[in-house]
Amino acid sequence: MKDGKFLTLAIESSCDETSVAVMADGRQVMSNIISSQIDIHTAFGGVVPEIASRHHLQNMNTVVDQALTEAGVTLDDIDLIGVTCGPGLVGALLMGVATAKAIAFAKNIPLVGVNHMHGHISANFIEHEELEPPFMSLIVSGGHTNIVEMSDYGVCRVLGGTRDDAVGEAYDKVARVIGLGYPGGPKIDRIAKEGNPEAIQFKRVYLEKGSKDFSFSGLKTAVLNYLNTERQAGREISVPDVAASFQEAVIEVIVHKTMEAVTEMKQDKLVLAGGVAANSRLREALSAACDEKGVKLYVPSPVLCTDNAAMIGCAAYYKYKAQGADGLDLDAYPGLEI
Ligand code: KG4
Ligand code: ZN
Repeated sequence: MKDGKFLTLAIESSCDETSVAVMADGRQVMSNIISSQIDIHTAFGGVVPEIASRHHLQNMNTVVDQALTEAGVTLDDIDLIGVTCGPGLVGALLMGVATAKAIAFAKNIPLVGVNHMHGHISANFIEHEELEPPFMSLIVSGGHTNIVEMSDYGVCRVLGGTRDDAVGEAYDKVARVIGLGYPGGPKIDRIAKEGNPEAIQFKRVYLEKGSKDFSFSGLKTAVLNYLNTERQAGREISVPDVAASFQEAVIEVIVHKTMEAVTEMKQDKLVLAGGVAANSRLREALSAACDEKGVKLYVPSPVLCTDNAAMIGCAAYYKYKAQGADGLDLDAYPGLEI
């Protein structure tokens, strides 16, 4: 406690960001340090798990110190440790979990393991003071694509998910084949603004009628086939047109299914979460669809969309209030479900 505030130290290391935050009373960010490894992994065209783990190990103590210093607190002021325990890369997760357990044990502070996806949703609590469950949420990240109903803090029912690639993964793969490099999402977002979304009619994959599931791997193949056909015919390829047309095919389906779910569940709030929530076209399209249906859309600012520890600290606070602490036998769970 400091100045009457309940302080959570949160650690996120599920993929390629080493992040540590200090949160006050669950929703107030006192510090949120994000040490990104993007430059290191760019050379390999994607995240290399062993390299990610090693860099988490190298960076972790420094990032913890930075987060405490920036918040103006010490470990003696901390009331709760929150850490991402899954889903994610096992070696990367273990670095965060081991650090969190060591601090919790040494300083006798309660420990809570957080589901990374609940963290992404919680990014919205940080920026929207009035937001409370129940609501619908669309989680779109590098590893997940889910439509869920959150009925209470940390209580989620999954209505649909991807059957193959996650949406962020599709962005990253398509970016690679059109020569934009890693990470592809932000690059496609930027270059698509210069392209024509109607230039190429990639098939929209809706699956069975009413299904809230997704499939993006066919779209990636369709982009590859288009590129091959055009190259063989000696025609010039417009990268902005391919990026914009691919993006439109993805977003049209996502928006359609999400709004269908919102209507079916009779919810009037929609919460966007995950790295792809930073996408400007998705934000614009969802915002228009929500306006039309009288649904209030909540979107985090871009820095809280991608991986960060502040969102984990927020989710940890609500989990601790509802369920109490986890034991020191907490482990890393790479395949943890929402
Ligand atoms: O949530 P996140 O940081 O990590 C995971 O939990 O997966 O999401 C990373 C994903 C990557 O696939 C990245 O390309 C994508 O989010 N992404 C974007 C944008 N910014 C990040 N995709 C589309 N448009 C963006 N602006
Ligand atoms: Zn994430």
